[in-house]
Amino acid sequence: MNSTTAHFRDQPSGYGSVSRAFHWLMALLFAWQFFGAALHAINRDLAISAFFWGTHRNIGALLFVLVFLRGAWGLANMSRRPRHEGLVGQMASLGHLALYALMVFCPSVALLRQYGSARPFEPFGLPLMAGGGERIEWMTALGSATHSLSAWVLLTLVAGHIAMVFVHHFAWKDDTARMMVRGVR
Ligand code: HEM
Ligand code: HEM
Repeated sequence: MNSTTAHFRDQPSGYGSVSRAFHWLMALLFAWQFFGAALHAINRDLAISAFFWGTHRNIGALLFVLVFLRGAWGLANMSRRPRHEGLVGQMASLGHLALYALMVFCPSVALLRQYGSARPFEPFGLPLMAGGGERIEWMTALGSATHSLSAWVLLTLVAGHIAMVFVHHFAWKDDTARMMVRGVR
């Protein structure tokens, strides 16, 4: 393997450029998404809330696509990724798995509700759902019961994830943050 390939791919010493690009691009988009959703929850009548809310479905749909691409890349790199050993490592793997589960679930039920609403949906102008058919009650009910709830649970988990990075870096003084920030050694 030449050094360019090694740089793209993950290594036991750190995440490669593709995994890091996915991680930080999605972290940025989630920050945008949650900032807008929090504004919407607090006071949806403000101009700034309306601005962010106008991007919610598009960014949500984009995050839905990105999580599958990132997951596929992660699976293809599984054997080369930094190892998570011991009890703390197993907890980290479980935490990451839970993040993925929610990153898939949360936009899935929103898209299901969108489909069930029989209204057209064209994220970034792409005609994804034509709309116009019958309203499908169970889809809208499932989405309404679980979408924002799962999103706030995801945000809580993300807060714990970020807190753990700080614990690794400042209390345990280990290499964890570097693996996702600077990447392969
Ligand atoms: C991973 C991506 C997403 C995240 C993190 C997310 C997050 C959230 C959050 C936190 C809320 C609650 C806001 C409030 O209480 O005012 C919310 C509501 C909402 N979201 Fe999303 N969302 C995502 C994707 C989507 C997608 C793809 C759609 C539509 C296609 C969508 C449509 C809505 C709608 C219509 C609401 C208002 C109704 C409700 O509270 O369930 N979201 N979202
Ligand atoms: C400032 C924000 C963030 C920081 C500092 C951060 C830091 C890190 C670090 C250092 C790792 C490597 C941990 C390890 O290998 O044990 C990591 C991995 C990971 N992070 Fe984050 N993260 C942030 C935001 C997020 C967000 C918003 C999400 C998801 C919504 C997320 C999901 C993940 C996942 C799933 C992994 C496992 C590796 C992968 O599949 O990409 N992170 N993060």
